[in-house]
Amino acid sequence: MNAAVAFDIYGTLIDTQAVLTRLSELVGDKAPAVSQLWRQKQLEYSFRRGLMGDYCDFSVCTRQALLFACRQQQVDISAAAVEQAMQAYAELNAFTDVPAGLQALQQQGIPLYAFSNGSRAAVQHLLKRAGIADSFTGVISVEDVRSFKPDPKVYQHLVNSCGVTANEVCLVSSNSFDILGAAHAGLRTAWLRRDPQTIFDPWDIQPDILLDDFSALASQLSAAN
Ligand code: LAC
Repeated sequence: MNAAVAFDIYGTLIDTQAVLTRLSELVGDKAPAVSQLWRQKQLEYSFRRGLMGDYCDFSVCTRQALLFACRQQQVDISAAAVEQAMQAYAELNAFTDVPAGLQALQQQGIPLYAFSNGSRAAVQHLLKRAGIADSFTGVISVEDVRSFKPDPKVYQHLVNSCGVTANEVCLVSSNSFDILGAAHAGLRTAWLRRDPQTIFDPWDIQPDILLDDFSALASQLSAAN
């Protein structure tokens, strides 16, 4: 029984593709390589900081990852261009299937939560810009517990915030590391395969639900109940 549904933000509800577009304007041909390494390093830095117990705002991981990616790709990026690339993160839009998908879930009367490594302010800003803020009962940020996904502490914080038990919360995420983290903490999981090329990490855990399309979410969640 899903008493609450939580959603990852970057790459799940919010489309990060526009970052690549902005990067192309700023660094030209190397944008795809920089962009891929940027996201990879952003997550790696959050994992490492979580393990080290050295929490910082997620935007610090994002900024430092951009600097690394540019150096690795031998892109000489100006301070102003770094600011512009960072600004792109604050101006991202929701995937087009998200508003209708959320509305269908709301009609089932299930409380919905946004759950992110991003700060509450950054996530609220994105949800408002995308016109979907009102769909959520709450925005849960890892900043409250000063760690990052996939630390079990952050999933427990989500569960506590929802006021139910872990197996009554379903996390919807396109990030397989997030799905594994949530499942490990006892939550139910729905992996949204936004990119058909994405491979789910071959660990000994599978998502409870596999989604190829956000609009199928409401019917698949109610069928799984
Ligand atoms: C988030 C990242 C992991 O929103 O996508 O938490």
